Amino acid sequence: MKSTKIISLTVIIALLGSMLPTVRAIAPPPPKRFAQRQANIERRIDTLLARMTVEEKLGQLQQLDGDVDGSFRAEHPDLVRRGLLGSFLNVRGAKRVNELQRIAMTESRLKIPVLFGYDVIHGYRTIFPVPLGEASSWSPVDAERSAQIAAREASAAGVRWTFAPMVDIARDPRWGRIVEGAGEDPYFGSVMARARVRGFQGADYSDPTRVVACAKHFVAYGAAEAGRDYNTTDMSETTLREIYLPPFKAAVDAGVGTFMSAFNDLNGVPTSANPFTLTEVLRNEWKFDGLVVSDYESVKELMNHNLAADEREAARAAINAGVDIEMVSRLFNKHGAQLLRENKVSMGTLDEAVRRVLRIKFRLGLFDNPYVDESREAKEIMSAEHLRAAREVAARSLVLLKNERETLPLTKNLRSIAITGPLADDQKNLTGSWNADALNKTEGIVSVLAGIRAKTGAETKINYAKGCEITGDDTSGFAEAVRAAQNSDVAIVVVGESAEMSGEAASRSSLDLPGRQLDLIKAVQATGKPTVVVLMNGRPLTINWIAENSPAILETWFAGTEAGNAIADVLFGDVNPGGKLPVTFPRSVGQIPLYYNHKNTGRPPDAKNKYTSKYLDVDVTPLFPFGHGLSYTQFSLTNLQLSAQRIRPDGRIIASVEVENTGRRAGDEVVQLYIRDVAASVTRPVRELKGFERITLRPGEWRRVSFTLTPESLGFYDRQMRFRVEPGAFKVIVGTSSVGGLEAGFEVIQR
Ligand code: BGC
Repeated sequence: MKSTKIISLTVIIALLGSMLPTVRAIAPPPPKRFAQRQANIERRIDTLLARMTVEEKLGQLQQLDGDVDGSFRAEHPDLVRRGLLGSFLNVRGAKRVNELQRIAMTESRLKIPVLFGYDVIHGYRTIFPVPLGEASSWSPVDAERSAQIAAREASAAGVRWTFAPMVDIARDPRWGRIVEGAGEDPYFGSVMARARVRGFQGADYSDPTRVVACAKHFVAYGAAEAGRDYNTTDMSETTLREIYLPPFKAAVDAGVGTFMSAFNDLNGVPTSANPFTLTEVLRNEWKFDGLVVSDYESVKELMNHNLAADEREAARAAINAGVDIEMVSRLFNKHGAQLLRENKVSMGTLDEAVRRVLRIKFRLGLFDNPYVDESREAKEIMSAEHLRAAREVAARSLVLLKNERETLPLTKNLRSIAITGPLADDQKNLTGSWNADALNKTEGIVSVLAGIRAKTGAETKINYAKGCEITGDDTSGFAEAVRAAQNSDVAIVVVGESAEMSGEAASRSSLDLPGRQLDLIKAVQATGKPTVVVLMNGRPLTINWIAENSPAILETWFAGTEAGNAIADVLFGDVNPGGKLPVTFPRSVGQIPLYYNHKNTGRPPDAKNKYTSKYLDVDVTPLFPFGHGLSYTQFSLTNLQLSAQRIRPDGRIIASVEVENTGRRAGDEVVQLYIRDVAASVTRPVRELKGFERITLRPGEWRRVSFTLTPESLGFYDRQMRFRVEPGAFKVIVGTSSVGGLEAGFEVIQR
């Protein structure tokens, strides 16, 4: 008889935490001490504010840009000396930062420290998988761990503020910035947002090895019309509240110190001048007391949006809506004093913005501890411990999309392996589009070819041929690639996008593999050799031919500094893949937007009935659904149980399921819990993720995994925009992807 073991997420996190040397248990500071410290901070701010001139106040609201190599510009030291520059982006390096800080702390009148911000998105110098890739681990523990390491390296270089995490929900893979987030689901995005904020900030970001995080881009930036970056967004308040806001709220709940307003307009009002989102929601509803920075020149761009006729109007609209720091453009600075004189901005509004900036500087401990220890950089950046973590996190983020006839894992004693494809021997693309201080550096980056060479012994002959480039029409390298395959036991083809094909200003109208890469795969497969396709890309791709015809597909996104080692770990079975897709792969661009938590419509698709919601020329289903991902072992889910048949609207219900590893290897499964509200006053999605847990099981081992559904899981915004749980029937679906699963039902009864 099996005995029931309930495994809770906290236990897993605690267990994993104890295994990972870099994750320290985060205990929040005792509330009383915290409150006292905050009160003390507010008093110190009052004293400072009383001494500041209008110019010095506006100086705190100004952020300027350094150069990509981290250096500052000629005008910066003097601006700091005069108290006219409160923060930087891109300036980094312990020596430089200390040099500027010394000017602020010894030569400026009020000795207010400057704050150094930087886009530390998925690593500072040790690069972890791109955020969408890391999200594929479905492991908040890994997300937290990588953010903590990124914080440690960045802070060693004097950076104490990261413009991350990006928590934008993205339902459109044409949008290149889908790579920077956690995918399409608000619940999943919220879990990852919390983990990343915790990872960057820890319990208290006055710790000099931590950075203050920034939830961006507030808000709905991912809903850009037609997937074209910076484009307009228009949606109901219900969609805004249920899909796009939750990860931001989760970041606030996790204590995020800063927010970034976005580039896009939302329902006609640019989000960098939107009082509804920046003040009503963020400040009044959520009680956020940190600072808001604009996106890069997004204050100035209010003129392009036709919201402001001139610079003065743009400055006024942004500051009055709730933007505190202006990134790069200088309109607050230039026009602030006059706006005050004309009573178009009140002194109260200005003081409040300055207070928020100073509050974060105090919370970072910068007034008392402004300098960075210059000996840390050499010791901490790309340390062996950080590289080991990057390899482990990368391996856990890979997704096995397909594996027929046990093509994978490969045995290590193969006589020969053909390795081909434009990304097989590549280093520069592996770090993705936000590679921070690793930009233009290849030192230490492990290619797939190098990773496989390190994994296999001298007896295995590696036949490498590039085959073709990522783009372009040149097929002259095909013959050599085909020969390599003919002379080998297996072929590995490494294809995808270049790093700059995703990220900012990198939207695509086609999601096909660029160039002649698909033809290369076809040519290699035509040799009859077992062929493994390794994908690198920053967004879902329409890979229909490969999905149908290639026996094995491994999605690796851009896996970072240790990509090649991590990929080799998985290809050869030292790590059993356990990642899952955090985003839907469509069959065709014409299906977009395509996401698992869609509505049912009055005429759900039915192949036998013409007058139903579908296409004439493509199936309505995705190529690979949200939550999909295979393993080298198999799992079975049985015996779904609910703790009650009926609950009240304020009640909770526990759903649990038995998961067994029925295969021959140890492996990970991500158990996913979805709900469906069967009938409600507002139409509800066909299913919504409300819980997940990645577990490891040995062959033959089983566990009961449980999830608690709370009013927060079951509620929605009704027609009056009130969040509530409505009485009626609910379905619970537990499975290993967003398709299929075990089902049970319960009812919410009137109290
Ligand atoms: C991006 C932000 C980024 C900022 C600073 C902007 O163009 O939208 O995500 O944080 O630049 O580099």
